[in-house]
Amino acid sequence: MHFLSLSICIYGYVAFTSARTEEDQASSPAANTEMRLGIPPPERCFYQDASECPKIENPDDCPCKRIPILSSSNNEEYAVFCCDLHIKTFETGLACSNFPVNVSYIHIRNGTLEALNVSEVRWRRLKSLAITDGKINRIKGQFLMMTPTHCLNLSNNALTEIENNSFTRLSQLTSLDLSYNNMTHLPALNIMNGREFWLDISGTNTLWCHDVSQYINKTGDKQIIFNRENETVCSASKTWRWFNTTEQVPLEQVRLLSLLQTECPKGKTWQCQCSFIRLNIVQGEKPVMAVEVDCSGNQLTRLPQRLPPNTIALNVSYNNITTLDEISGNLWYHDLQKFYADYNNITSINKIEGSKFSDNFEFLSLRHNKIKSVPTYILVPNVHNKNHLSHRYVKLGGNKLLCNCNTAKYLKPWLQTNILDPDEVLCENVKEKVVDLEPSKMCVHPGDWTDYIYYLIAFETLMLISLIAKVSYDYWIFKTAGYLPWPANKMPKLPCDWLCEA
Ligand SMILES: *[C@@H]1O[C@H](CO)[C@@H](O)[C@H](O)[C@H]1NC(C)=O
Ligand SMILES: *[C@@H]1O[C@H](CO)[C@@H](O)[C@H](O)[C@H]1NC(C)=O
Ligand SMILES: *[C@@H]1O[C@H](CO)[C@@H](O)[C@H](O)[C@H]1NC(C)=O
Ligand SMILES: *[C@@H]1O[C@H](CO)[C@@H](O)[C@H](O)[C@H]1NC(C)=O
Ligand SMILES: *[C@@H]1O[C@H](CO)[C@@H](O)[C@H](O)[C@H]1NC(C)=O
Ligand SMILES: *[C@@H]1O[C@H](CO)[C@@H](O)[C@H](O)[C@H]1NC(C)=O
Ligand SMILES: *[C@@H]1O[C@H](CO)[C@@H](O)[C@H](O)[C@H]1NC(C)=O
Ligand SMILES: *[C@@H]1O[C@H](CO)[C@@H](O)[C@H](O)[C@H]1NC(C)=O
Ligand SMILES: *[C@@H]1O[C@H](CO)[C@@H](O)[C@H](O)[C@H]1NC(C)=O
Ligand SMILES: *[C@@H]1O[C@H](CO)[C@@H](O)[C@H](O)[C@H]1NC(C)=O
Ligand SMILES: *[C@@H]1O[C@H](CO)[C@@H](O)[C@H](O)[C@H]1NC(C)=O
Ligand SMILES: *[C@@H]1O[C@H](CO)[C@@H](O)[C@H](O)[C@H]1NC(C)=O
Repeated sequence: MHFLSLSICIYGYVAFTSARTEEDQASSPAANTEMRLGIPPPERCFYQDASECPKIENPDDCPCKRIPILSSSNNEEYAVFCCDLHIKTFETGLACSNFPVNVSYIHIRNGTLEALNVSEVRWRRLKSLAITDGKINRIKGQFLMMTPTHCLNLSNNALTEIENNSFTRLSQLTSLDLSYNNMTHLPALNIMNGREFWLDISGTNTLWCHDVSQYINKTGDKQIIFNRENETVCSASKTWRWFNTTEQVPLEQVRLLSLLQTECPKGKTWQCQCSFIRLNIVQGEKPVMAVEVDCSGNQLTRLPQRLPPNTIALNVSYNNITTLDEISGNLWYHDLQKFYADYNNITSINKIEGSKFSDNFEFLSLRHNKIKSVPTYILVPNVHNKNHLSHRYVKLGGNKLLCNCNTAKYLKPWLQTNILDPDEVLCENVKEKVVDLEPSKMCVHPGDWTDYIYYLIAFETLMLISLIAKVSYDYWIFKTAGYLPWPANKMPKLPCDWLCEA
């Protein structure tokens, strides 16, 4: 709202000045300039159209003209307007307009210079300096202390460099127009007295977004008003999937970054760190700044409830987190691709199942937690998901699993091919690492048991055969020799024996 109302103010002022200009054309140059400048508003620099350029009829004509300004103080004040200055006419042109004596405003249009040295004393008294629509490669030096310049317009000069500290002494600067140039870095501003800046960097698409973002950060979001913000883009290196081109990012996205700190998770006793890591480019969509959140070492007992938009990486290592509920249930976790939660008290990864994260993740690190089992199907990419990355990295070292025959037979080889630190996964019930488990040892009990059954069956069959043989033998002896061999003869008589005898 703040920005909007200010923009309206600026537009309103522009409309007002252009309306006045027409009716002022007829009046005297002095009145004209005075009306146009009024009390010089912070938003605009002293500026003249090309049609106002001094007429050059012979080589001795001055390319600059002096325009008196009626100022509120009694001092005589002048503005100077020059056109088409180049290296040979620069000094003579300024000299023939008696610059800088009593001059507070200057506009040089279509100047051609290799470098402009702003340390020179002649710029020392200027309230407004405009050097526009020309060709100046560099700004060097540093404005002198107490220079009263509040408006600086260097628009449309194909500037490639402004020395970092050139403007740092301009303690009254409020309008800076650097539009349509070719710099990659913004110079530092003097932000001492907390005033607002009106800054135009539209058309200077070569500025690094990272630089602009740092700039907004340093100056404070509220202190900078970008003119033509929706037409302003900056360059960001496009590292998504490691392609090596640069990409133009809307300034609006960069400004989101300065909001990042306010959206970064925090509590009464803790604060996460948020930063932007790369530009995510999805075909047919606006480029998006991907965010990384670091909440490590905050004694958190649960995952943060809210993350900044486009958070793709979250580090919650060294906390006391016990569950991964948020990962599947919380919408703020939908863009997450890298999750690091080493040294926590997480007991299970089952909560990840079916989440967007389990389909898309690139890195999952849960080292030194309290995970007891590893349901591998949760960690393997869903074959139906075409977006999944060919590589995904998992770390589970330092967890103590409940180990059994299956662990040795199936989980061990799976860990060895699918996670980065299989050597460090331990067993809770066995004093061994999972990779050292021998299936032949772990699976020894079930194997023994089945063998024993076979022995028992064989033994029983043998007993049965020998019993039948003994009974048949006894019967044969009884029939042929008439007596019963031991032990049948020692057996007590049974009721059926009486029957037999009878
Ligand atoms: C700077 O000069 C350009 C012309 O190149 C003009 O369009 C713009 O309004 C000026 N900016 C300011 C702040 O005076
Ligand atoms: C500059 O201003 C002073 C008074 O403020 C005046 O005496 C002097 O003549 C002026 N010089 C020129 C060159 O206009
Ligand atoms: C700019 O100035 C140069 C001389 O320095 C001149 O040759 C050229 O025509 C001027 N351009 C315009 C657009 O006036
Ligand atoms: C700029 O001008 C100042 C003062 O005239 C001078 O001391 C300095 O050496 C100049 N700087 C460069 C880089 O030419
Ligand atoms: C520019 O100067 C500021 C401080 O004045 C410093 O923080 C920053 O790193 C400098 N940038 C470059 C590119 O030298
Ligand atoms: C400045 O940038 C414009 C477009 O961005 C380009 O056409 C021009 O060649 C560049 N000039 C220099 C000196 O790099
Ligand atoms: C600027 O960034 C630093 C760390 O990168 C952060 O601590 C600070 O809060 C940020 N300031 C603003 C105003 O965003
Ligand atoms: C920028 O915003 C202004 C008003 O807010 C609008 O008139 C203009 O069309 C927008 N330009 C672009 C390129 O979106
Ligand atoms: C990308 O560009 C940088 C420098 O611009 C270069 O050092 C690097 O080797 C390039 N990488 C690839 C993969 O082309
Ligand atoms: C976890 O909580 C315990 C007490 O509940 C505390 O002693 C310990 O320091 C905490 N650990 C971390 C890393 O916050
Ligand atoms: C996560 O945070 C911990 C503790 O600050 C740090 O040691 C670790 O390197 C971080 N992990 C990543 C991948 O940034
Ligand atoms: C987490 O585990 C540590 C070490 O086993 C223990 O001291 C701490 O109390 C646990 N914290 C919670 C919140 O369970």
